[in-house]
Amino acid sequence: MINENEIPLAPPLLSAERITVSYGKFQAVSDVSITIAAGRGGVGLIGESGSGKTTVARALLGLIHPHAGTIRYRGQDITSLNRVDRSSFRAEVQPVFQDGNEALDPRMRVQQSVMEGVKSRPSRETRASRVAQLLADVGLDGKLATRLPHELSGGQRQRVIIARALALSPKLLILDEPTSALDVTVQARITALLESLGAEHDLSMLLITHNLAIVQQLCATSHVMFAGRIVESGPTTTLMTSPAHPYTRALRDAVPQLGGLPPAASSQMWQPPADSGCAFRARCPLATEICSAQRPELRAVDKQMVACHHAEKARSTPASATTPNPVTALTLISGDS
Ligand SMILES: Nc1ncnc2c1ncn2[C@@H]1O[C@H](COP(=O)(O)OP(=O)(O)OP(=O)(O)O)[C@@H](O)[C@H]1O
Ligand code: SF4
Ligand SMILES: [Mg+2]
Repeated sequence: MINENEIPLAPPLLSAERITVSYGKFQAVSDVSITIAAGRGGVGLIGESGSGKTTVARALLGLIHPHAGTIRYRGQDITSLNRVDRSSFRAEVQPVFQDGNEALDPRMRVQQSVMEGVKSRPSRETRASRVAQLLADVGLDGKLATRLPHELSGGQRQRVIIARALALSPKLLILDEPTSALDVTVQARITALLESLGAEHDLSMLLITHNLAIVQQLCATSHVMFAGRIVESGPTTTLMTSPAHPYTRALRDAVPQLGGLPPAASSQMWQPPADSGCAFRARCPLATEICSAQRPELRAVDKQMVACHHAEKARSTPASATTPNPVTALTLISGDS
């Protein structure tokens, strides 16, 4: 009889192990670890503009090489994959970038865009029916197949981008701000689409976003990045209900402030990350001497991993005491710095 405890656990689908990525002398990502299991729903990656989220996504996709650390696909270092494994990595891990940034070739019709990455050469009929199926999967009318990107709405373009990723029967979607260019109602529809596609196709997702509501809906686990480092990780619900890093708290508490910024907000300056000690200290209401002297390492606090010297205090301090100034609050949400 097989003892369940003796069945070896499958390695995660994709993982970053302590990766560091630099652009010239600038270290954009430092010591970041993220694990994404197969078919287990979403992992969120949250953080303000410039915190290094896209750089992590590009490293996970093998588009840039970390200067330290390892990216593993099904347990293997992606730099040493053989031809067969590399081709299944390319098919199974699909990017879904935000509409804009030339995500779609402006000269390609929808049907060409959707089948762009498919290497096999199916017959015309098979191809047409596959395109029709993929468009139906993402909630688009098949009549749009012959349109060019500029003849579509932003929401329709984002659905085409998702259909193109699905064409390769992926196991993991790496979604970089998939809804941030869209208005609120379209955002909600795309989020619902991702949720149903995830369940239908047993997909896992790495979701990069500034939108905490979307992370809460799609991701069981989340990581919060600040200045190139993960500052807090854990179950998304716990991060939202009992954040233990002052920055996570600020992100969470910033949401309801959007409607009512006081006039004084404009005179308060956004503070850049500090380059020694804790990078968040210039903005942190809980900062003390140790925060200037020593960079906090990630450590376990209850269900989270947190990089903060005063995490226990941050968890138990009332919201108003850890909320940054309103300009920072707006920055945290919009991602503009
Ligand atoms: N190709 C590049 N060359 C030099 N610096 C870069 C390059 N790409 C990104 N950076 C810098 O690296 C840092 C992280 O950038 P990244 O795009 O990963 O941030 P992000 O969290 O995705 O931001 P956003 O929310 O605005 O998309 C930023 O300071 C950015 O200016
Ligand atoms: S280590 Fe210090 S400065 Fe950094 S977040 Fe914690 S309390 Fe604030
Ligand atoms: Mg980005």
